[in-house]
Amino acid sequence: MTGSHSRQRRPTTAVAAALAVAVVGAAGGTAAWAYGPDAVTGAEDVPIPAVTVTAEPGAASPGSGIAAVTAPDVSMPLDAPSVTAVLAFDIDDPASVTVVVNKTRPLEPLTFAPADLVALTGIPGGGSQRMRTEAADALQAMHVAAADAGAGFSVSTAYRAFGFQQSLFSDYSARRGVGSAETFSARPGYSEHQTGLAVDIYASSACRIKRCFGDEAAGQWVAEHGWEYGFVVRYPRGQQDVTGYVYEPWHVRYVGTDLAAALEEGGAATLEEHLGLPAAPDYD
Ligand code: DAL
Ligand code: ZN
Repeated sequence: MTGSHSRQRRPTTAVAAALAVAVVGAAGGTAAWAYGPDAVTGAEDVPIPAVTVTAEPGAASPGSGIAAVTAPDVSMPLDAPSVTAVLAFDIDDPASVTVVVNKTRPLEPLTFAPADLVALTGIPGGGSQRMRTEAADALQAMHVAAADAGAGFSVSTAYRAFGFQQSLFSDYSARRGVGSAETFSARPGYSEHQTGLAVDIYASSACRIKRCFGDEAAGQWVAEHGWEYGFVVRYPRGQQDVTGYVYEPWHVRYVGTDLAAALEEGGAATLEEHLGLPAAPDYD
C-alpha cells in the first residue's frame, strides 16, 4: 500500500437528511461550556511533510477498511536490534478503537452508538460522562499519572449521542454561523465524541475549551505523554487543512496504544497523515 486508501462514500443525501432535522437550540445537554474555542481564526498553514507508508504484502488492500503501516516496536529496549512490526488498524468499523472519523469519513451508520459505555469515575467531572470501557480505563490510568506529575485534569464532555451533537452543532451554528461552527464543531454523525472514544478535558475554568489549555501543565503533559496511554491530541495546531478543525488541545482521542505509539514514533501530526488518508478540510 502506498498510502492511498479508499472507501465507499456515504451519499451526500444522507448528510443533508441528517442536517435537515437539526433542532436549533441547546436542548439535549447541560452544555455549560457551550461557547466553543476562544478564537476561531483558522490555524496557520503548515506544509505536511511527505511520509512513506508501507505495508506487508497482503496485509491490507485499498478499500478493505484496514490501514496497515510499518512502525518501530517501541517496546523494544533501546540497545536491542531494530525491528519493525506490521500493524493493521480497522479504520472503518465504528466499533473499532482505531476508527477514523473526519469530515469525509462519517460514522456508518450516522446514528452509531457504542455498546459498552461506562462512567468516568475517579476523574473530576467524569461521574456524569461516559466513554467506552477500554478508553475509560485508559483515561483513568492517564489521569492518575498526570495528577502524580502535577498535571491533573477534569472532564468536560466525553461521549455524545447523535442527538446531542445535533443540538450542539445547531446551537453553535446559530451563535456563530454555520461556516464558523464547522471549524470547531462536527456535524452529527461526524464527531469522534459519538464513538465513545473522545473526551474534552480541562484544568482551569479560564482555559476550559480554549486554546490556552495547551499552555497549561495538563495540556502539555497530555500532548507529551498521552500516547503512552493510547491517546492522541486529535486536532493539533496548524493542521486545519488536514483535520478540518482548528487547534483543539483539549480534545483527546483514544486510539489504543499500538496506533498511538506508532503515531508518536513516526512523527506525523495527524491520524490522516500517519495512515496515508486524504486530508479532510471540508465535507464532501
Ligand atoms: N470539536 C470536535 C471537532 C467535535 O465536535 O467533535
Ligand atoms: Zn472534543
